[in-house]
Amino acid sequence: MQKQISHTTIYRRHQASLYMLWVLLIAGMIMLMLPACEHEPLAPVDPDPIDTMGMDTMDVDTMDEDTMGIPCDPDVVYFDRDLLPILKSNCAKSGCHDAITHQEDIILDNFENVMASGIVKPFDLNSSDLYEVITETDPDKRMPEPPNQKLTAEQITLISKWILQGAKDLSCDDMAGQCDTTGITYSGFVAPLLTTYCVGCHSGGAPSGNIVLNLHAGVQTVALNGRLIGAITWANGFQQMPRGSGKLSDCNIQKIKAWISNGALNN
Ligand code: HEC
Repeated sequence: MQKQISHTTIYRRHQASLYMLWVLLIAGMIMLMLPACEHEPLAPVDPDPIDTMGMDTMDVDTMDEDTMGIPCDPDVVYFDRDLLPILKSNCAKSGCHDAITHQEDIILDNFENVMASGIVKPFDLNSSDLYEVITETDPDKRMPEPPNQKLTAEQITLISKWILQGAKDLSCDDMAGQCDTTGITYSGFVAPLLTTYCVGCHSGGAPSGNIVLNLHAGVQTVALNGRLIGAITWANGFQQMPRGSGKLSDCNIQKIKAWISNGALNN
């Protein structure tokens, strides 16, 4: 059925368009009276920047052109450097929260997927399910689930600090400044690094490849037989470790090498 348009409707529409005209006219007059906006001259954009840093040969995952040379602030939690390795080795494993298994539709293998999972509420620990499950005392509800190891107190602190800092995707340049390979100890450097990148898979009841990396004895074995360096330098004939993540930074590899060449001691 066709809709009838009454005279009053036409009158109202007419009135409305007149009103609009007035508004436009007045707005135009005001604009003319305002002084012209002054813009800062825009910096010319280089359409094709020349690669002077050999970025093409670097791992794009771990090296961000924007962050080249920006030193890391010790008080800031950087997602790629500090958090992602923990999530990859403890959560984004096959059978759990990798892209293939995605238990409960939660994938924890990169920043976008972590945020899309809805388990992180920036600045708010109590509403962040991620924080709740890693601090859960009931083993039936805890993540990672047994027999996987609990996250360490340091890892939990790091994750809560990241949430309280707004759960941002910040990065920085690990190589800004010198790589100091002197005085590297197991307790001060090697163990914390392995805890971040490796222990989630290489510990507990069924450690991957039967390689145990949360105890000095296990680490020393692969350190002295060459498998540790083979795996982290991605040498031919070795599995590439950490599995599913980018390579460790050159500086971290150099520090581990320095510790091994001093005997891989429990120092
Ligand atoms: C996501 C799980 C995972 C993470 C994280 C991980 N690994 Fe592995 N790793 C494995 C698996 C699985 C194997 C291989 C088992 C096999 O195929 O025999 C393995 C094998 C190895 C091997 C034996 C390699 C070889 O070719 O002889 C070494 C050494 C090793 N890992 C060290 C590390 C170190 C060091 C890290 C951290 C920097 C690490 N892994 C992180 C799962 C992982």
